Amino acid sequence: MRNLLITGGAGFIGSNFVHLVLEEYPDYRVVVLDKLTYAGNLDNLKGLDGNPRYAFVRGDICDAGAVERVMQDHEIDTIVNFAAESHVDRSLMEPGAFIQTDVFGTYVLLEAAKKFQVERYHQVSTDEVYGEVLENRSTEEDRLHTRSPYSASKAGGDLMCLAYHTSFDVPVTITRGSNNIGPYQYPEKVVPLFITNAIDDIRLPLYGDGSQMRDYQYVRDHCEGIDTVLRRGRPGELYNLGTGVETRNLHMARLILKLLGKPESLVQPVADRPGHDRRYALDCSKVQALGWRSRHSFEEALEKTVRWYVDHEWWWRKIKSGAHYQEYYTRQYNGREIQP
Ligand code: NAD
Ligand code: DAU
Repeated sequence: MRNLLITGGAGFIGSNFVHLVLEEYPDYRVVVLDKLTYAGNLDNLKGLDGNPRYAFVRGDICDAGAVERVMQDHEIDTIVNFAAESHVDRSLMEPGAFIQTDVFGTYVLLEAAKKFQVERYHQVSTDEVYGEVLENRSTEEDRLHTRSPYSASKAGGDLMCLAYHTSFDVPVTITRGSNNIGPYQYPEKVVPLFITNAIDDIRLPLYGDGSQMRDYQYVRDHCEGIDTVLRRGRPGELYNLGTGVETRNLHMARLILKLLGKPESLVQPVADRPGHDRRYALDCSKVQALGWRSRHSFEEALEKTVRWYVDHEWWWRKIKSGAHYQEYYTRQYNGREIQP
């Protein structure tokens, strides 16, 4: 029996990882520790209540007392840290919360990992720490070149993990993933935002000229990659996780509209994101040597994702009709339209 603490397990990727672990590993117990910020959602974990191998604890990873209690009460031997403030645009509005959770919260978890001598501490990080990559691909050896408060905070978390490995021998691994898409993604991120807007015939706010590129991967593939690194990765090592194929945002928007049978005139160019990174691109050969490869092409991942949002209106309508979402949307997008 292995006892996993999955922080941020009520969020998008964390909840997909919880489902994967409970489905694939009958001998694992899962404890979710989540603060339930605007992005945390118990609907993502629906159906798990009553499962004897699952427990949910509401709490903040920055609260050392709460973290230690969970570690002790549930005899945790593995920590997988998904908890973070995760949206770049919000980091431009309120950077403080990002530094608090993504850096300080990581430190609190590392202290617990050290004190309770876990078998593994895994940090879920991002390709954004390499910064904009206009040519070639980022390898795990590349220098960090963060450009947003979000990516700078995630890089701070990564460096703290490596420091705890070097200084205190904490068995740390880190994965740096590209953009995930799929079930349970909060509709502030571009793909679920565009899908749900298009369903309602609302314009799709495309930043700048839409020529920026992202490696969009299916969330289940990313979760399988994290699982591979947990089982086969070496402590102290970093692993990139992506498909190795990048897509321009304008192309992604047009594909969504095509899949939904909506007109391209729904695309609305808006003022660009300040400091917008034009391209991220990962070299994933290191993790491929462990036997992992992303299984969905971008088109397959997008098609599945569109279908999920079409079939789960109850999930996203609750969020989009809420006051928090509407205030954010107004603040982020009002008056930002530009003429093509
Ligand atoms: P998300 O915003 O959907 O979920 C974050 C979760 O963390 C939420 O449930 C939230 O309630 C919880 N949380 C936030 N602050 C907390 C705190 N102080 N204490 C406890 N819980 C807290 O994020 P996501 O998109 O699922 O991303 C998960 C992780 O993966 C993040 O670390 C992110 O940086 C990383 N990542 C995301 C992507 C992506 O495309 N979404 C890609 C690569 C890496
Ligand atoms: O690369 C991994 C990262 O991917 C993760 O670490 C982050 O947590 C996750 O949020 C994501 O960051 P991005 O900034 O790439 O994702 P976002 O969905 O915000 O934007 C994707 C692209 O779409 C980016 O080029 C900006 C553009 N965009 C975004 C929004 C929200 C638009 O054109 N319009 C929009 O309204």
